[in-house]
Amino acid sequence: MQVYGEFAWSNPLHPDVFPGVRKMEAEVVRMACNLFNGGPETCGAVTSGGTESILMACKAYRDLAYERGIEYPEIVAPVSAHAAFDKAAHYFCMKMVHIPLDKKTMSVDVKAMRRAISKNTAMLVCSAPQFPHGVIDPIEEVAKLALKYNIPFHVDACLGGFLIVFMEKAGFSLPPFDFRVKGVTSISADTHKYGYAPKGSSVILYSHKDYRHYQFFVASDWPGGLYASPSIAGSRPGGIIAACWATMIHMGEDGYVEATKNIISTARFIIKELQKMKEIFIFGNPEVSVIAIGSKVFDIYRLSTSLTAKGWNLNTLQFPSSIHICLTLLHTKPGVAQLFVKDVRDSLSVIMEDPGAKATGVGAIYGMAQTIPDRSLVSEISKAFLDCLYLTELPPSVKHINGSPGHQ
Ligand SMILES: Cc1ncc(COP(=O)(O)O)c(C=O)c1O
Repeated sequence: MQVYGEFAWSNPLHPDVFPGVRKMEAEVVRMACNLFNGGPETCGAVTSGGTESILMACKAYRDLAYERGIEYPEIVAPVSAHAAFDKAAHYFCMKMVHIPLDKKTMSVDVKAMRRAISKNTAMLVCSAPQFPHGVIDPIEEVAKLALKYNIPFHVDACLGGFLIVFMEKAGFSLPPFDFRVKGVTSISADTHKYGYAPKGSSVILYSHKDYRHYQFFVASDWPGGLYASPSIAGSRPGGIIAACWATMIHMGEDGYVEATKNIISTARFIIKELQKMKEIFIFGNPEVSVIAIGSKVFDIYRLSTSLTAKGWNLNTLQFPSSIHICLTLLHTKPGVAQLFVKDVRDSLSVIMEDPGAKATGVGAIYGMAQTIPDRSLVSEISKAFLDCLYLTELPPSVKHINGSPGHQ
């Protein structure tokens, strides 16, 4: 907070005025490159979050594709890749080619990915791990495709990047996922998630400056001056970059390794306990901090509703119906994981009294939304939800129902 306060009015758009913030951004990027085993030629930028990091990689590869003569560049990504890739496709006029998952592992079907590669492919994508089921895609296999067909390959480590880089030192092995894998050309990792920096920071890293150049924007003829900007924003919050830098220095490698050790061992404990419960199953082999749960005998959204009533907040997933818990340092406190396991067990015993019962509340909405064939209808309803977020007073109909005058 103190560091943020000291830099709250700084802006890296003006490196001459704020040289300290420029240095801190460069150091955040360098530290991240080192963590992902990048050599001296690796580079990157700090962005406002995972979505912007992903947008930047897609924009860079789109422009590279244009230069290679591809008129309609395509993003080839697993269906489990974050929606930010769909957003990038939408913003940058690219085509999204979704690749199915192997139903057993929930990681991308590499054969299907190979078949989807065409002369229009601008980039391949894997996640480490992906958001829905916390599963890491087969990065080494996809890297081979990337090399064979000379296609840029992005690894999205936004969610778990600042866990997976410390897992080996924390005593948990993983297959290689970073710049050690030949063929990986960029990695996104969020400092504002397991990097413990305040919200509003992430890094996008490239294996070479040539790729980063496609990310940059320059307006050379603007009367306002020579305008060169690395990412989407113009002015950027120097305070956030300073706070991110300070957090990384404060945590240090030891702090991150310790946090990782605690989170991963808590995840492994919960997985072991949930596997004993025959009414539910875990999707794939979640090696990091997200555990997705499904059921073959009851509507899994009922478990989410029951756990919400007990004070837990699990994410609701679809296609297929499932819920997941994303473990943080809070869950590593003594007794918390045990309480979660107990609450799941208690919920199951109530649910199994009537396994065929229907879900209510948010679970019912999710269940119903998945069955609507016209997805544009779901989009329209979601937009109405977003509109609601900007209400400052209750609409007349709601006022009428409540009998309250609403906020004036
Ligand atoms: C795998 C993955 N990629 C990207 C993102 C997007 O990050 P943000 O919400 O910071 O834009 C998330 C967010 O949860 C994620 O889980």
